[in-house]
Amino acid sequence: MQSILAQTRFSVGRRAFSTSVARWQAVPQQKPVLMKEFKIYRWNPDQPEKKPELQSYKIDLNQTGPMILDALIKIKNEMDPTLTFRRSCREGICGSCAMNIDGQNTLACLCRIDREGSTNTKIYPLPHMYVVKDLVPDMTLFYKQYKSIQPWLQNDKPPAEGEFLQSPEDRRKLDGMYECILCACCSTSCPSYWWNQDEYLGPATLMQAYRWIADSRDSHGAERMEKLQNEMSLYRCHTIFNCSRTCPKGLNPAAAIAKMKLEMATD
Ligand code: SF4
Ligand code: SF4
Ligand code: FES
Repeated sequence: MQSILAQTRFSVGRRAFSTSVARWQAVPQQKPVLMKEFKIYRWNPDQPEKKPELQSYKIDLNQTGPMILDALIKIKNEMDPTLTFRRSCREGICGSCAMNIDGQNTLACLCRIDREGSTNTKIYPLPHMYVVKDLVPDMTLFYKQYKSIQPWLQNDKPPAEGEFLQSPEDRRKLDGMYECILCACCSTSCPSYWWNQDEYLGPATLMQAYRWIADSRDSHGAERMEKLQNEMSLYRCHTIFNCSRTCPKGLNPAAAIAKMKLEMATD
């Protein structure tokens, strides 16, 4: 270890400043090799005759970042540029890196690599979705369902001027719902959604439906509820709570669905 004391003197206008900057030069320490195997689902639509398979990649965890997304990026950059997955923000905000990691739907950028436990980690695309390629699921139906609940403010009598005002208490009713990033981890962990996704909207879309019903500024709550009054759209939820257990943002779509059912039964 060696220290360097750097003395810097500079002036701005008529005032002079002096700073002392102590810098420590660390001797780089070689970390021991810590190999881990990642078994990743591969399927290429350009080779339809080839069945999906798990492909194995081994990387040194001391040469990569701490999250699963870091490992995927390392594999793509350094070992196999054909590996395909979605990612954007790397901060748990965009929702695009949702996938199934060791049996759990979650965000690859928020999921730490297990350095001690198992010797391998298996990564699949979100379950019960069509696959575009490798870890990329087809989200077409999911977005179509989201669009069907008209996820925007509707009010036939907007204020003559100024903003829509809302009391702090009414605003708080949206907490735990507005934070949803539409990653689809919850919907694709829901058994009812697996078997009925043509008609059942699934927890992510239903929580967003309730997000607008619960919004004091929206005056179309009755119509929104009316649209859900059928056997399939809402009532296929059997309150199993898989959705809330898996949500990587810590939200509780099952509770939002239960509240909505209660309001619809009592209103
Ligand atoms: S509720 Fe959670 S798991 Fe479901 S879409 Fe929103 S953020 Fe993702
Ligand atoms: S609580 Fe409802 S929405 Fe959530 S996993 Fe169970 S059936 Fe699906
Ligand atoms: S990259 Fe945006 S949520 Fe993971």
